[in-house]
Parts: sequence; structure tokens; C-alpha cells
Amino acid sequence: MSRTLFVTTALPYANGSFHIGHIMEYIQADIWVRSMRMAGHTVHFVGADDAHGAPIMLKAESENITPQALVARYADERPKYLNGFNIRFDHWHSTDSAENVALSQDIYRALREAGLIDTRTIEQFYDPVKGMFLADRYIKGECPKCHAKDQYGDSCEVCGAVYAPTDLINPYSTLTNATPVLKQSEHFFFKLSDPRCVAFLQDWTTGSNAVGAKRLQSEVLAKTREWLGGEDGEAKLGDWDISRDAPYFGIEIPDAPGKYFYVWLDAPVGYLASLKAYCQLKGLDFDALLDPAGATEQVHFIGKDIIYFHALFWPAMLKFAGRKTPDALNVHGFITVSGEKMSKSRGTGISPLRYLDLGMNPEWMRYYIAAKLNARVEDLDFNPDDFIARVNSDLVGKYVNIASRAANFVTKHFDGKLAFVGDTDAMVQEQTALADSIRAGFEAREFGRVIRDIMAYADRINQAFDAAQPWLLAKGIEGADDATRAKLQDICSRALAGFKAVSVMLTPVLPALTDRVAQELFGAEQPFVWADSGQLPQAIAPFKHLMQRVDPKMLDDLFEPPAGAVVAGATAAAVAAKAAKPAQAATSSPAATPGDGTVTADGVLPGGEAIAPIITIDDFAKIDLRIAKIVDCVAVEGSKKLLQLTLDVGEGRHRNVFSGIKSMYEPQDLIGKLTVMVANLAPRTMKFGVSEGMVLAASHADGKADPGIYVLEPFTGAKPGMRVG
Ligand code: 2FM
Ligand code: ZN
Repeated sequence: MSRTLFVTTALPYANGSFHIGHIMEYIQADIWVRSMRMAGHTVHFVGADDAHGAPIMLKAESENITPQALVARYADERPKYLNGFNIRFDHWHSTDSAENVALSQDIYRALREAGLIDTRTIEQFYDPVKGMFLADRYIKGECPKCHAKDQYGDSCEVCGAVYAPTDLINPYSTLTNATPVLKQSEHFFFKLSDPRCVAFLQDWTTGSNAVGAKRLQSEVLAKTREWLGGEDGEAKLGDWDISRDAPYFGIEIPDAPGKYFYVWLDAPVGYLASLKAYCQLKGLDFDALLDPAGATEQVHFIGKDIIYFHALFWPAMLKFAGRKTPDALNVHGFITVSGEKMSKSRGTGISPLRYLDLGMNPEWMRYYIAAKLNARVEDLDFNPDDFIARVNSDLVGKYVNIASRAANFVTKHFDGKLAFVGDTDAMVQEQTALADSIRAGFEAREFGRVIRDIMAYADRINQAFDAAQPWLLAKGIEGADDATRAKLQDICSRALAGFKAVSVMLTPVLPALTDRVAQELFGAEQPFVWADSGQLPQAIAPFKHLMQRVDPKMLDDLFEPPAGAVVAGATAAAVAAKAAKPAQAATSSPAATPGDGTVTADGVLPGGEAIAPIITIDDFAKIDLRIAKIVDCVAVEGSKKLLQLTLDVGEGRHRNVFSGIKSMYEPQDLIGKLTVMVANLAPRTMKFGVSEGMVLAASHADGKADPGIYVLEPFTGAKPGMRVG
């Protein structure tokens, strides 16, 4: 039975480039979509930028550009990443679009008609300088419990206390440093606590979809049970505040001047907006496609951090607006690196663009991610050694190897013709049955299991080939009898039939590679579909090289941040400042006032970059700078940039620090010198070991203007362990 599917991935905020977490999600969904299409199903796979909200508005303001220009800038760079990793959305749209305005407002009106919108006056902190209500993340102050300074408006990072922003002692606005004042405002609420909503969500979360699969994974269902309350009917859901006051970059609420939808209301509506725009382009009937009584399956791939929005607000909004509700939420975990949360500043971040720029094959990454994914809400660990092993041993060593071993005999001795001796039914049946189980595994998102099963089959093909020792037969093959020739041809043909079946099974994961196999080696006119797994190949073209092995050095380069960033301790703020548009003349906007650090009055960029935003003395005090003696220094084998320093900070032990200064210093010239290090930086696991701090060095922001990196050295008299400040 052919199915119609509407598939989405979470919409990324349009104020940042894609990170590897986005790419992982898109690869997961793309593999799933490709497999469903190979089975003959119709899939509409769309994405969009999540364009609205205060952070985007404020970032645009700090760059003196419109939010639309900011959003457009990120939209422009999306194809580089998506095409780069062979991720093929049918359409990419924006929540800041006419379709989204119309759909969001229609949904709102329908909810209002249904009696599910309420207004209430609430009191909230307001920045009198900026003229804007402040979300919790823009308010800081002293923790009411442990008195730690500079804690956010919702919780204390030091003692873990959770509170309201109004509980903070000496609160201040992080936008202007002004003391916020309490101000009343009318807000709009979606009445999720309404018994109709609760009853619907109890049913929707526990139910199955039209193809008999559970809508929610068990872990996700368990979460929703916590939020919804159990069978006792005790209402736990609060109403949802869906409005924000001007100034806000968003969609206006109908009949409510100066009020905008909170970004999380119109964000998921962006899924529909993107599909609608796609339908308009392709002449498809959007309303028919999403008819609540129709057969289209609506499937959302999302991360575990946004379950609440997708498992509660979103289905309830759709239901009570009279629309089709989602059929499945496919939730994944986060990506970690060598067991730790990824961190740019620790150098464990994987930049997708850097990956591509290094010439790394996107299908290595697709394969690795597939090999590590399953249908549960588990984190996926990127381990460099595991990556190298899986690509080199499995993909190249097991899979590609089959063709490179068997094809040449066939080309050389049989003019590329395949022929089989004896029964082929058992082989075909095995391949067909395996391919069907693999197809089902992809559908169930058990990608890791799928990859294991495919590689086990590749092992069996290689073993049969080895056991038959075709190279011995090939030695005297030109003068050999027909039976011997037929035997050699059969051994190679069976290996190549196996290779073709494996290629079909890997097509969702390695679309570019298997398209080449289909077309260049087997002379097919179309990319593989599942039905091809049972078709024995008849001939091959001469084998062409298919895939390079990973050079382990590439992994070093992937993780090594630019030298300046390793040693000069580039903070997120400095990096952001670097990326920001340079100085416009100072304006009255507080975010661009000289002295606040974003720009200088006359546009001078000291050292090639604007001074970072102002921090408080308390912020500075968090960084523990110490005099360190370089007791040893050696080059790091296999790294072009790093030196390994052994530092004495007067602690009675030595620290190991890697620093990207190899281009500037001979190791022996540094031994015995004093320098300054960040002594309380979280240790960072690098390919070569753990780095326990950061040595300070100066560099120009534009590495071309001055490619040097200059390690700091204190005046005479400083001793190891002395605090710098
Ligand atoms: O968490 C995020 O990155 C959101 N921009 C996801 C939105 S998903 C959907 F609702 F648009
Ligand atoms: Zn506290």
C-alpha cells in the first residue's frame, strides 16, 4: 500500500549557522525519507527557518540591520550545508512568510472561536531604558537563596534554586544594565487546562496512528504522563501564554494592536507554511493533503529538548483549530563528543562546514551517524577513533572491497558479463528477505541495527569469496576449460550480486555513492529502489574507485580550532564581535553605544575586531588567571599547530596544556619561561590528551593582516601561581 507522508525536522532559529546537532537530525530524517521513497511511498519533506522572537530582533539591532536581513543572511548559507551533506528537503521556507502569517492567524481565530483563548493582565519586569518587557533570560541579579551574583531570572547556576525573576536581589536588565520595573500588561493565553484539551491530549499521547504505530516513543510518552498527570484526571497543565508585547519580531495577533504571537506559537505553524508554499510551487492541493480525515501521515523529527511544545501545545492547537494532528513524533537525543557535551571553547565542537571544507566525505558522516542511531531518545556519541574504524573497516574494508576485488576478474576475463552456475534462488531469496528486514528497520528508525545486519551480510559475501579463492583459478584462466572459467565467473558474479544487494540496502544512507554504483557499475538508469534487491545483475562496467579511506589527520584538523582561538582564549563574545558587522557611527540605541563594547565611535577596530561587550567585575573575577612556568614543552606528533606544554602553577603538580603556537615557537625556546594561563577552564579532551587550561597569547583578528601568535610573558618578579587581575 502506497502511503503519503508529510515529514519535517525542527525549524532552526535564524540567528545562527547550522551546528552538527542540526545536521544529525536532518541526516536521520533524510535517511528515513529516502528509504520510504524507495518503498514507493510519496513523501513531502520540508524545512524552514524559525525567524521570529526577541533574540533575533536584538541580534539584528546590534548589527544595525533589519531582522529580515539577518534571517536572509542565514537562509542564504543553508544550501551549502544541506547540499554538502546530501540532505534533500523538497522545500525550505521561513516562518516570516505570508503563508505563516495567514495560517497562524487562522489557527488563532479558530482557537478563539472554540473558546480556548483567554486574556489576563500579568505583571512583568520591564526595561525602562530599552522600553521593552524582559524575558527571564534578559534579567540577572543576586540569587535570593545563596546570594551568588549575576544569576539569571529563572534559576541559579550556583545553588540550583528555581525562582521568579521578581525574587532576584538587585535585578538588572542584561540589555542596558538598567534596573527593571514591574509593569502590567494584558496577555493572551491558550487554555490548555481546559478539560477538552486535557482529554484530547490524554488520548493523543497514548494512541497509535493509522499504520498502527505508537505516536510517541515510550520515553516521550512517560514525559507527557508527568506533565499531563495520570489517570486520576488531576489537571496539571497550566494555560500557555502565547502573546508578547511590542517591540517584538513576530506575527501580529488579530484584533490586538501591539500584541504579537510568542515565537513558539508560530514556529510549528511554519511546518504547514512551508508545505503550503511547496504545494503552491508544485500545484499540489494543500488542504486535501492535510485533510483531518485524509490518509496523509504527518511526521515530525525533533530533539528531546522540545518535546513539550510538540507533544502538548502543537497537537492541541491543531486539534482545536479543526486541523489534522501529527501522526508521529520521532525524538532523538543530543550529540556528544567522546562522551562529553560538545563545546566550542573546549575545542570539542564539530563544525559541519569545517568538515566539508576539509574535503571530508559527507557520506562518511551519514554512515557514522546511521551506525550510531536507534529509535530511542538516546544521545549519540561522536568518537573520532570509532569514526575512523567504522568508515575504514566497515564501509571501505567490507563493503567497497567486495566490488574492487570481484569486478576486475569479470572485466578482464569475461568482458564484464556475469553468469551463475547452479541455483541462484536461495541467494536471491536471502537478499530479498534481508532487504525487506532492512527496509523495515529503516522505517522503525533502528538504523544501528540495520547497519550491523548489512555489514554482517557483507562479511558473509567476503568470506564466501575468500573461501572460493578465485585468484588461484584466475592464474591460468586463459587456457582453462569451460567449467573452470564458469566457476571463476560464478564466484565473482555471486560476490557482485551481493555487492549490488548491499548497495541497495545502503542507498538511504549513502545516496551519492550508491547512485554511482547503480549507474556507473551496473548501468542502471535510476537510483536504486527496494525492489532492485531481488534483481540479479547481468553485467558490469569496469570498476572505478568508489571511496577513499579516512585519513586520521583529518580528524585532528576537524577538532583543532583556529590557532588564535586555542591560545588567545577567544570568548564567545569576541567571536561574535568578530562576526558582527563592523562599526557604524554610534547611534542612540543602547546596544550600539560607544563604550558598551560592540563598536567604537569612529569605526576603529583595535587588533582587527570590535571590543567585546562590557562585562562586570564579577564576570571577570570568574576567570582565574595565574602565572605559569613552562617546565617542559614538546611538539605534538601528528599536529601541525600544537605544542604540548607542561606548566607549573604552584599547585604542587604539573598541568598539561595544548596550545596552537607551533608556527611561532621552537619548543626549547619556551622551556623555563613564565606566562599567563587560564587556570579554571574546564579540562578539554583533545585527540592527543586532556588540556588542563589555556595559555594566553595575542593575535590579530584577521590572521592575514598579521598571522602571528604572541605568548604573554609577565614582567620580572612574577612567580608561578600568582593570580593575575
Ligand atoms: O529549538 C529550536 O531550535 C526551535 N527553533 C525549534 C522550532 S521547531 C518548530 F516548532 F518550529
Ligand atoms: Zn543560588
